[in-house]
Amino acid sequence: MKETLLPYLQCPECAVALALRAPHSDGTEVMSGELVCRNGTHCFPILRGIPRFASLTEVAADKAETAAKFGWQWTHFTQSDERYAQQFLAWIAPVRPEFFAGKVVLEGGCGKGRHTQLAAGWGARDVIGIDLSEAVESAFAATRALPNAHVVQADIYKLPFPRVFDYAFSVGVLHHLPNPRAGFSSLAGKVKAGGHLSAWVYGAENNEWITRWINPLREGITSRINPQALLHLSKLPTAALYLATKLIYRPLNHVGDGSLAQHLFYNDYLQAIANFGWREQHTIVFDHLVAPTAFYISRAEFEAWWRDISATEVEISWHNKNSWRGFGKVP
Ligand SMILES: C[S@@+](CC[C@H](N)C(=O)[O-])C[C@H]1O[C@@H](n2cnc3c(N)ncnc32)[C@H](O)[C@@H]1O
Ligand SMILES: [Zn+2]
Repeated sequence: MKETLLPYLQCPECAVALALRAPHSDGTEVMSGELVCRNGTHCFPILRGIPRFASLTEVAADKAETAAKFGWQWTHFTQSDERYAQQFLAWIAPVRPEFFAGKVVLEGGCGKGRHTQLAAGWGARDVIGIDLSEAVESAFAATRALPNAHVVQADIYKLPFPRVFDYAFSVGVLHHLPNPRAGFSSLAGKVKAGGHLSAWVYGAENNEWITRWINPLREGITSRINPQALLHLSKLPTAALYLATKLIYRPLNHVGDGSLAQHLFYNDYLQAIANFGWREQHTIVFDHLVAPTAFYISRAEFEAWWRDISATEVEISWHNKNSWRGFGKVP
């Protein structure tokens, strides 16, 4: 933890400032120590350089189960890919890299920290990635060299910050929460008046084949088996995806104006991931099969989330014809 993170933190229980106690620094990062609230009532450890406001043994079982699975995922699939920037910008459109300059930014559910890293590189004043799972270990390793990037282990429902953020975003996280709408409101609650928020979620529309055929498999089998077994099992659907995207989707999308490819099943999405290599496609397949909880959100439902927080200038758009992305101003 960089000491510059301290002014952004507050006790998640009593909403007062925190003080650093018994810090051990490696020169840049406080690697161990404690954060004690000014009331002297609550104390949070800093372990391996990361402030810990949540532990999987203390949160509700459904949240802990999801976080444990994703923790395994993001400490295994730690690779980086040059296409992450384009992919991230597509998830948070219409936001562009220039938008981050000078802003204090919060990422809800940072996983291995790939987007926290990008936001820091695009000139955010400070960006804080939070995640409930042990993915924070990977996120910390990926961002520790960046002076404006911070990683915190916390539950999105119980964030250890005052309302100080110019911008908050969450990509691929809210639909995995037991109550996505409440998670969205919690994140929005940390954005200061006039600041902005982005969210990207799985859509209900055009995904009936998943909710009908894949969800029962995910809920009954793949999210229940041990991740190491799923890692191997998921190579089979990854092989089918890999061959289809490389031999059919990518070439056909390059024939003429690509209109032929428009007739292919799920073309918009499969074309979007066709340039990724084996490892990234394996990550994507594994990610879809590992989650115990996944909601598919309709546009009407997603719009209601933005109304809940009285957001203005809201822009909701359909991404790859299978998911919803939203951007709006917090009043
Ligand atoms: C599909 S991953 C997406 C990670 C990252 N946004 C990305 O796109 O690379 C979902 C992430 O949400 C995190 N998560 C799940 N429940 C959470 C909660 N209650 N609070 C914070 N993070 C949570 C998981 O640990 C996981 O890292
Ligand atoms: Zn306290």
